[in-house]
Amino acid sequence: MSSKPMAPSTPATVGERWWRNAVIYHIYVRSFVDSNADGIGDLPGLRSRLGYLQWLGVDAIWLSPIMVSPNRDFGYDVADYYQVDPAYGSLADLDLLIAEAAARNIKVLLDLVPNHTSDQHPWFRDPELRLTRYVWTDRPNNWLAAFGGPAWTRDEATGRYYLHNFLPGQPDLDWWNPAVRQEFELILQYWFDRGVAGFRIDVAHALVKDRRLRDNPAASEQDPPWQQLAGLSNRYSARQPEVHEIYRHWRGIAKAYAPERLLMGEVHLFDAEEWAAYHGQDDELQLALNFMLVFRPFEPDALRTIVERTLAVLPESADAVWHGSNHDVSRLATRWAEGDERRVRLALTMLLTLPGATVLYQGDEIGLRDGHVPHESVRDCATPSRDPQRTPMRWNAEAMGGFTSGEPWLPVERDPLINVEAQRKKPGSVLNFTRELIRLKRRLQGRYDSLGAPAGVWRYSRGEVLVELDFGRLETRVSEPE
Ligand code: GLC
Repeated sequence: MSSKPMAPSTPATVGERWWRNAVIYHIYVRSFVDSNADGIGDLPGLRSRLGYLQWLGVDAIWLSPIMVSPNRDFGYDVADYYQVDPAYGSLADLDLLIAEAAARNIKVLLDLVPNHTSDQHPWFRDPELRLTRYVWTDRPNNWLAAFGGPAWTRDEATGRYYLHNFLPGQPDLDWWNPAVRQEFELILQYWFDRGVAGFRIDVAHALVKDRRLRDNPAASEQDPPWQQLAGLSNRYSARQPEVHEIYRHWRGIAKAYAPERLLMGEVHLFDAEEWAAYHGQDDELQLALNFMLVFRPFEPDALRTIVERTLAVLPESADAVWHGSNHDVSRLATRWAEGDERRVRLALTMLLTLPGATVLYQGDEIGLRDGHVPHESVRDCATPSRDPQRTPMRWNAEAMGGFTSGEPWLPVERDPLINVEAQRKKPGSVLNFTRELIRLKRRLQGRYDSLGAPAGVWRYSRGEVLVELDFGRLETRVSEPE
């Protein structure tokens, strides 16, 4: 990178569309910082690291689900949408977090799980409500659950079958029922009123199911790899056009707040046009997470092609959002970079210099790799387990990495150099490099233009700034005008 002195930066939070160029830091709360030695990360722990996040320069943090949950899928099975799970703290802790984050100019986003609830949710426990608020059939179709097996489970009491696109403990809500829609509008308002800046929306493309519950057709090349593996697409078990109405309503709610609240969908689609449609005419989601990029091999042509395709299909009014890791997929330092720090730098430079917002997953900024979780310590419900990408954050070189003084819920990696403390002190470390990229991002205003380059090199400009990602020599160059 150029060694030009830093120009004063404009916070991305200024102005109406504060998410446009924002850096959103994704926190898997359970694995971030544990304040009470129970081995589980929590909100007071997280609060103690706000100074670090401000130093790093992030605009917002997105917290993995913190609502009350029996944790069969660690918060992605919600039993109470209005309370904080006691494992993470209380509503008062969240209020304090929001206030202290605001004082540091950091916004707080939560994770909303509207596709399904926990089977412990009062609606599913109620003999009447469960029959109208969830999806039922007498004749199960061919839909498959993402965690394996059929998506239908027989209910002893009625002999009917309820739908669960994930675990049997995660029954799918019936979004054709207006009562379900009304409740979620209340949930949104409840959290927005508390000062929550927006939501990441879990499986945003899946809420509405085919009304006739038709069989899914065979998977095609357009479908994601795991669907091809299972042999079936999700044409009818998700992706119904009526889902767009829901987001139009939600966007109306988000727009009624100042600053406008953010709706960032997990739109797990590989058909670029279908994906782009979730932005609507600037009246649905503001940001749609892009898995087309995440699942690309780390090769310049493969990455460039999908980035340019994304920018081409994105409506004029919408902004892109880029990420390379999350709690479901292997971390970028492992998956893309294969542990090579130079490749980590290439990936971070790409993510932070493309036009739009960037989501960094906790640890990306230090090049944290997937952890090793022995078979007997696996906690995840999915196979293969997603625990390696959920192992605790490394704050220092101590045995527990500064994550906990108790027994961590997942093992802590012991690499003495991949931790915040060591890297903060070291000029030119991945952490300091990331911080400098975040500052650079503030100065990148111009549009993306692809430039000619030799094989193995991806070169583009953002206005007057030139970015070169050299995958052959594993080097990055950024030149800014004098
Ligand atoms: C999303 C979440 C994942 C969860 C699933 C079911 O893909 O990111 O962690 O298991 O939805 O809610």
